[in-house]
Amino acid sequence: MILDIDGIEFSYTSVPVLKDVKFTLQRGELLSILGNNGAGKSTLLKCINKILKPHKGTIYIEKDEISKLSRIEVAKRIGYVAQRNENSRFTVFDAVLLGRKPHIKWDTTEKDIKVVNEVLKKFDLEKLSLRYLSELSGGELQKVVIARALAQQPIVMLLDEPTNNLDLKNQIEVLRIVKETVKEQNIAAIVIIHDLNLALRFSDKFLLLKDNTIFAYGGMEVMTEENIKAVYGIPVAVEKYRNIPIVIPL
Ligand SMILES: Nc1ncnc2c1ncn2[C@@H]1O[C@H](COP(=O)(O)OP(=O)(O)O)[C@@H](O)[C@H]1O
Ligand SMILES: [Mg+2]
Repeated sequence: MILDIDGIEFSYTSVPVLKDVKFTLQRGELLSILGNNGAGKSTLLKCINKILKPHKGTIYIEKDEISKLSRIEVAKRIGYVAQRNENSRFTVFDAVLLGRKPHIKWDTTEKDIKVVNEVLKKFDLEKLSLRYLSELSGGELQKVVIARALAQQPIVMLLDEPTNNLDLKNQIEVLRIVKETVKEQNIAAIVIIHDLNLALRFSDKFLLLKDNTIFAYGGMEVMTEENIKAVYGIPVAVEKYRNIPIVIPL
């Protein structure tokens, strides 16, 4: 077990945003979090990354309680890509190198440079490496922030709507790289995503959030017409095309 979310509760005001959220994640798994806007998806990722502190419950990464780890220890193990990302005066190379920060003691080492170059290559960003972030398209920028999280070499990746702003080719590309990394390095990833068909294509597990709590959690078997209709409030058909499951809104 790589992540154990044990009964967490969170609220910003007096209204609860997360109630009794409980699930576990294993190495080698990619989990999609699904649910309507405002369901609490981003809040859940922020609790896991210790940006927010749950009022109740405990989160373990491997054997350690997140609440007891320092910021740097959390950053060494968890890579996080927020829903909204800043533009800045960094070059692509420097932005990805920043992902190495939790590992750097005094100065950048050869290993840091090697990791950054490998990640840039993986995302096909080498030719953009000296461009400023402000000169990138939305899709390119999105790839850079995901590349930065991978350069961190975390054991858990948290990606909040990573495919927003991307064209179809890049959506598939980014999820393919995340999936590949999860399998190759035997780590885990949690992805918040609105495209059910992409989620079905790349995920091992699915967490359906509704009314601030878990409506369903599991493998492909939870992605039924009934569950999807209950969570999103629209009727759908779940079919297979060339053995690939697809969701069709009716
Ligand atoms: N900083 C905040 N202060 C108060 N309420 C917030 C804050 N951030 C989010 N919320 C509220 O918490 C709920 C869940 O938000 P969020 O986790 O962002 O949902 P999702 O990512 O599923 O769209 C929403 O009702 C949202 O308005
Ligand atoms: Mg969100």
